[in-house]
Amino acid sequence: MNADPKSSCSETTEGEPTATMTPMPVWLVALMVSLLFLSAWYFDLYGGWFESKVFSPYVSVADVQRFQPKTGGIADTVARGKKLFADNCAVCHMETGVGNPANGCPPLIDSEWVKSPTATRIAMLISKGLSGPITVNGKVYNTGVMLAVGDSLPGSEAEKAEKIAAIATYVRFQFGKITVETKTAQVQAVRESIKDRTANFTEEELLKAEP
Ligand code: HEC
Repeated sequence: MNADPKSSCSETTEGEPTATMTPMPVWLVALMVSLLFLSAWYFDLYGGWFESKVFSPYVSVADVQRFQPKTGGIADTVARGKKLFADNCAVCHMETGVGNPANGCPPLIDSEWVKSPTATRIAMLISKGLSGPITVNGKVYNTGVMLAVGDSLPGSEAEKAEKIAAIATYVRFQFGKITVETKTAQVQAVRESIKDRTANFTEEELLKAEP
């Protein structure tokens, strides 16, 4: 009736767990290696290799501004030309470009001399001035004389050309709706071809130049 104490004791001893080395499954090793490979690959692609431009790109506001794209384009030249126009042309042609018929100053708004395909004629007349009759929008103006405003601009020849180019860009943009910038090099070439001239231009002469 009583169980044999010896046998039950020995059964318990046999059931005791034992610590043995179990080899790691191959699939787990493969998974870890591929994860390591993938993360190294990802870091290589997107990590920037701890490059300071990536991890601490800017140290100040000035630094940020240095990397902003420059405004550039026609807008800067138009703004510069607007100021030069106010200083050198508006006294006769008015800031609004309507001209002043009382003084024989023709309008610039929609003028064919302003809107011409190239800026050659306007560069010529700004440089050396204009006298004699001139037809603008079908109306003849013959009582005023435009002085050689361009030649008398302050600065070296290169500076004059740059200023005339900015004025021409502004006038053509503002009063002729032309969005092409007049380049300094173009004005320099025009001025080089007329550099020995002292007299004002006439309408007849301007019409012989490229439109
Ligand atoms: C002293 C007054 C005066 C100033 C300053 C002056 N102009 Fe004129 N401008 C005239 C007169 C007058 C005429 C017409 C001349 C003529 O009848 O032959 C004229 C003609 C013109 C024309 C051709 C006709 C037309 O209306 O399209 C243009 C373009 C022009 N001027 C642009 C300018 C620009 C740009 C400036 C400044 C760089 C300027 N002028 C400065 C008086 C002036």
